[in-house]
Amino acid sequence: MDRELNGAMRSVSINSAQQNGHNSAVGGGGRDETDRVGVAPGAAALSGAPAATTKLGATSTATSAGKTTAAAATTTNSTHSNSNSSPQQIALLSAAEKTKMVHELCQQLLLTDEQVQELCYRILHELRRGLAKDTHPKANVKCFVTYVQDLPNGNERGKFLALDLGGTNFRVLLIHLQENNDFQMESRIYAIPQHIMIGSGTQLFDHIAECLSNFMSEHNVYKERLPLGFTFSFPLRQLGLTKGLLETWTKGFNCAGVVNEDVVQLLKDAIARRGDVQIDVCAILNDTTGTLMSCAWKNHNCKIGLIVGTGANACYMERVEEAELFEAEDPRKKHVLINTEWGAFGDNGALDFVRTEFDRDIDVHSINPGKQTFEKMISGMYMGELVRLVLVKMTQAGILFNGQDSEVLNTRGLFFTKYVSEIEADEPGNFTNCRLVLEELGLTNASDSDCANVRYICECVSKRAAHLVSAGIATLINKMDEPTVTVGVDGSVYRFHPKFHNLMVEKISQLIKPGITFDLMLSEDGSGRGAALVAAVACREDILNSKK
Ligand code: GLC
Repeated sequence: MDRELNGAMRSVSINSAQQNGHNSAVGGGGRDETDRVGVAPGAAALSGAPAATTKLGATSTATSAGKTTAAAATTTNSTHSNSNSSPQQIALLSAAEKTKMVHELCQQLLLTDEQVQELCYRILHELRRGLAKDTHPKANVKCFVTYVQDLPNGNERGKFLALDLGGTNFRVLLIHLQENNDFQMESRIYAIPQHIMIGSGTQLFDHIAECLSNFMSEHNVYKERLPLGFTFSFPLRQLGLTKGLLETWTKGFNCAGVVNEDVVQLLKDAIARRGDVQIDVCAILNDTTGTLMSCAWKNHNCKIGLIVGTGANACYMERVEEAELFEAEDPRKKHVLINTEWGAFGDNGALDFVRTEFDRDIDVHSINPGKQTFEKMISGMYMGELVRLVLVKMTQAGILFNGQDSEVLNTRGLFFTKYVSEIEADEPGNFTNCRLVLEELGLTNASDSDCANVRYICECVSKRAAHLVSAGIATLINKMDEPTVTVGVDGSVYRFHPKFHNLMVEKISQLIKPGITFDLMLSEDGSGRGAALVAAVACREDILNSKK
């Protein structure tokens, strides 16, 4: 743990306490939002909201879900006299006073309705920049064309292989699409060792080819030449359904020699180097595309695919005339699927008005500083670490655990994102999971009040993530402007967090145009089955074209 940095953060925020004020006068529906006056000693001293946030936050007196709150400035001023309390003095405060300090500090993590609205405008602006030819080269949100124009019609049949790289695991799958939306699937997970994740591209693709070959022999399809869909969940500048150049690595990968290369060719070359198996790469796709396709197989209203897992991203069906970079070949097809790569939203500073010291800390210590700003505020790769940073700060300040930390708590990456889901899965007032997690962290002296505060911190971080995703989805729904939209969703955070779905439904409903209806549909293994479906649809088109 970088103690120096933490010490520095603390002294900086204590000195700037009076300028910082609140990030939000109105919370997003969190607890205790009507009780912001009379903050415990030192609370504002520790609130590290960036100065810019006061612009939106301090002026807002509106209501969220009907709750009116005290003005931010009042709250902040009442703390002035105690801003120099030491951690030892703070540790002696009552549980109620410490809880108030926790809530104060977490203010910077709550997004006001105004901020969420502002985010929607900014996301729309960035989407437009990505779609338009003249602004695309400099756009952060690239809006890559996927070349997918046809959704599955339910008649896709046959045996397909799929590769899935870019989530928590690397997988190889054999999928048999059958009648009546039925399918059989066998799959195997293979580890990608850390040294390969940051090694050379050749090593990575040789490893993938080896896993594929092993899988094919284990599943007795070694001699067959099967169509294959490759789910490659990184920003890809696609030049066709089977050709795509890697724009940049994300999510902890950084293999040399792959950026700007055609990933399908790298895979084919690796397979050719082995010379033992034959495949037919029919499509390369993003996991968001796979998710959309796997949901669209059953539900034809599915026009958005969303992943909230290790990474965060969405794709959506756009009108061909809006996608300026797409050179349409078939005038009868009015839409094309766009992979937004919105994880990079904010890389130009567009999110600075809501970013916190914790977000900046995550970014500085990441493998790709300055990149994937939106993703770093949302996805599973970072959510646990965000919570850990807040916990460390509060523990060092004496607010949590009587100021007693632990080595695990102080180590980067050891507060896993699944802990957030586990802690929030406890019934209110029950801290069974919370205590188990704290024990794993070596924190055995937690009081009930500490547990309640830890839970509150998790809630603030996950709720903010859900609200950020909702701003993005609502923007897409409003842009598409269709009466009914189903959003296909996958990813570990969405799947396992007990409230993420409900938080999203509530927020998106507030943000979309009146008259539009939507629903969120959990995808059944989008990356695997979706890959087979994209490959199948591509084959279907090939067969049709050859018959013409
Ligand atoms: C990252 C990748 C993106 C992927 C997302 C979810 O944002 O860049 O391609 O869809 O993670 O896995």
